Amino acid sequence: MKRTMIAETTKNIGKEVTVSGWVNNRRDHGKIVFIDLRDRSGVLQIVIVPGSKAYEKIKDLRPEWVVEITGTVKARPEKLVNPNLPTGKVEMEAAELEILNTSKTPPFEIDKDTKGIDEELRLKYRYLDLRTERMSNNITLRHNVVKFIREYLYKEDFREIETPYLTKSTPEGAREYIVPARLYPGEFYVLPQSPQQFKQLLMVGGIERYFQIARCFRDEDQRGDRQSEFTQLDLEMSFIKQEGIFDLIEPMMIEMVKKLCPEKKIAKIPFPRISYAESMEKYKNDKPDLRKDKENKDELAFSWIIDFPLFKYSQTEKKLVSSHHPFTMPKAEDMDKLESDPTKVNAYCYDLVLNGYEIASGSIRIHQHELQDKIFKLLGVSDEEKKRRFGHMLEAFEYGAPPHGGIAPGIDRICAILSGEDVIREVIAFPKNGDARDLMMGAPSQVSQQQLKDVHIRLSEEAKGKELKQTDTQVGD
Ligand code: AMO
Repeated sequence: MKRTMIAETTKNIGKEVTVSGWVNNRRDHGKIVFIDLRDRSGVLQIVIVPGSKAYEKIKDLRPEWVVEITGTVKARPEKLVNPNLPTGKVEMEAAELEILNTSKTPPFEIDKDTKGIDEELRLKYRYLDLRTERMSNNITLRHNVVKFIREYLYKEDFREIETPYLTKSTPEGAREYIVPARLYPGEFYVLPQSPQQFKQLLMVGGIERYFQIARCFRDEDQRGDRQSEFTQLDLEMSFIKQEGIFDLIEPMMIEMVKKLCPEKKIAKIPFPRISYAESMEKYKNDKPDLRKDKENKDELAFSWIIDFPLFKYSQTEKKLVSSHHPFTMPKAEDMDKLESDPTKVNAYCYDLVLNGYEIASGSIRIHQHELQDKIFKLLGVSDEEKKRRFGHMLEAFEYGAPPHGGIAPGIDRICAILSGEDVIREVIAFPKNGDARDLMMGAPSQVSQQQLKDVHIRLSEEAKGKELKQTDTQVGD
């Protein structure tokens, strides 16, 4: 018989249907056995009574076994209705049951919230953690967020374009992951910290409106709101000013919340705009939590932080560095201070903040070659370095680059806040732990000596002894 999803059983009272899924739990009441069966759509109570064909099969049946059950959907008597369960008004009386697979006893209970379970254990068995209701809801919300964004931007005439992952350094301030180039001894690709340069080059390419759900890679310390690989909604527009970016993003966020999280209330519309200087003075940080009740996860207090300084003075480097990145446009009224008083120059640079987290960051970019050149000079980038690292950008800007700007909302942070989670790991299917390790796959890991040789890498004394001694069997063609 065709499979019926558990959520659909409520519409099938009195009918015989077949459901399949995992045994969420089992309760033996005298001779009658109750099973909660779980599929991707929900949980259904199944009653198995002695005498049925199904009853003969369930002697050893335990949680997480995979089964297919055929039976009749019945309305539960009024006093047995479970108001906490979407299928709480019905149950199925099983006629037949087929065991599709058995399961070892899982390392933690899957029919309960795993928040209190040791996170390292949850990460090692992530595929089991993903079966739990909260994690499954988080992953579904994330899917809905990305789907909403895509559909919204298609309607706004954006092109969705993929940019390379094997590329060259892009300055966003973090350490980069490098990938040895087998065909070019001593040369390396770099995994992008963001598609920043590509999206600007797409504007030179006449695309005008680009977006991408882009993976970004940054080799930096992990925190609750940081992962070494994370996802941005990266977007860029031509012929646009700061106001135009706000006009796109603000209604998109409002509609997304209304559609996906109707239980949440946005504190203030339009979103308050606060200058960086004012935020630092008033809240002592540049990502203020403007909620009335800081514990209330259903209150969403968005704000734009604007007028960031173009540069800051780095004490470690003893020189000016970009506050955002070196492609950010100085404000028109501050242009004359660029050389005389650079730290007083503000930029068309903005963050979107939500409940104390920076959820997006962007800027209007420099599109003129001469100005970009001047900024690199102020940043102390030598002519040789400028040519080597950014020659392609500067050259592109000589071919009629349009005025452009963009923004990159962090998908992980947005999803964490919308699902009421404190750390972004809870909304990522396969995150790294706090030490940037993937505990399930066991990455990073050693590679064979042959692999190292192929990419022209010899390990230092310190790393030696970590080379894989045994050879692996080839298992692919
Ligand atoms: P920025 O570096 O500020 O800007 O990043 C934009 C947004 O990405 C998210 N984010 C992160 N999320 C999880 N883990 C991380 N390690 C992490 N780092 C950043 C944040 C942040 O607001 N190219 C520019 C954007 C632009 O100018 O258009 C950029 O990457 O939500």
